[in-house]
Amino acid sequence: VTSFERRTHTAQEALRAADVAGLVLSPGSNLRYLTGVAQSPSERLFVCLVPATGEPTFVVPELEAETVRETTWIDDIRTWQDGDDPTEQLADVLGDVGRGRLLLDATMWTRFTLRIQRIDTDREYGLAEEILGPLRARKDETERDALRRAGVVADRVMTQLGNDAASFVGRSEADVAREIERRLADAGGEGVSFEPIVAAGPNGAKPHHAHGDRRIEAGDPVVLDFGTRVDGYPSDTTRTVVFEGEPSDEFEQVHDVVREAQTAAVERVEPGVEARTVDAAARDVIDAAGYGESFIHRTGHGVGLDVHEEPYVASDSDTVLEPGMVFSVEPGVYIDGRFGVRIEDLVVVTDDGCERLNESPRGWRVGSSD
Ligand code: CO
Repeated sequence: VTSFERRTHTAQEALRAADVAGLVLSPGSNLRYLTGVAQSPSERLFVCLVPATGEPTFVVPELEAETVRETTWIDDIRTWQDGDDPTEQLADVLGDVGRGRLLLDATMWTRFTLRIQRIDTDREYGLAEEILGPLRARKDETERDALRRAGVVADRVMTQLGNDAASFVGRSEADVAREIERRLADAGGEGVSFEPIVAAGPNGAKPHHAHGDRRIEAGDPVVLDFGTRVDGYPSDTTRTVVFEGEPSDEFEQVHDVVREAQTAAVERVEPGVEARTVDAAARDVIDAAGYGESFIHRTGHGVGLDVHEEPYVASDSDTVLEPGMVFSVEPGVYIDGRFGVRIEDLVVVTDDGCERLNESPRGWRVGSSD
């Protein structure tokens, strides 16, 4: 039994326990999680119906069928061809599902959601994450292994950037971002898990500034936030460094505060603790240093097939941490018009604490850990 099949059986048990008739999945992370099929969404109808009891069924375009057959453990694959209307096949499959609510993928395109709802007007509908959210939040061994390896690739590149620091002064943020992409690929990663962030000087004060044409100057703090994928699972790590020269005293001070906040938050991670406690641990340190107003986002987000998923580590998150959960711990302080500092590692909750998935040096002076 593959891990995909095992996950599907677990999901079906949860469906029965919640009195839900089934799931309708479209191309995206939920589909990949249960079936192994990594398909991009398109205008052609492509769904997988997972009933609470019995075998799942795919309805897919003929031109994708062979890829699906090669990838998935599911046998019942029905196809339709360009020029045909797949509505009848879809109606057949939906007709076989027992009574009760049907949960659809949150990322299903509205055109398909409406088509399903028009076929089956009597049913109640909800979101698949109701069942799959809690299951996906606890990573199985296969997933943890992929996340670890993705972390190692990102760490290797982060460490290399430190070693080659002087060569980045004078180059544009965008140019350094391309260099990061090349190095991630060379180190064994599959693409990037999101557009790399290279934010120099005042650009660092915008948490989601990606990169632009600003040239990195000596003394500039630079926020580097990037990741790649291994076996479909992403990395996501951030360091704030100075490639060459001396930064301002306030930057050094803020960097110390953020680093202390990050350590305090990681130390609070263990099973049974609410996610908000981890957020508070970081926030308390930053508040005490007088920078509370400048920490303008939550402390972290879950990471799995999606780079942002459950559990969220925020001030209002009552999610209780469980072994196998993986999330980022990434406090930051942003000083408008001057600089930003963020330090981010992924952690996996273990039986008695947590394991960090990132271990590249955390100091701002590149190549050193202090
Ligand atoms: Co992140």
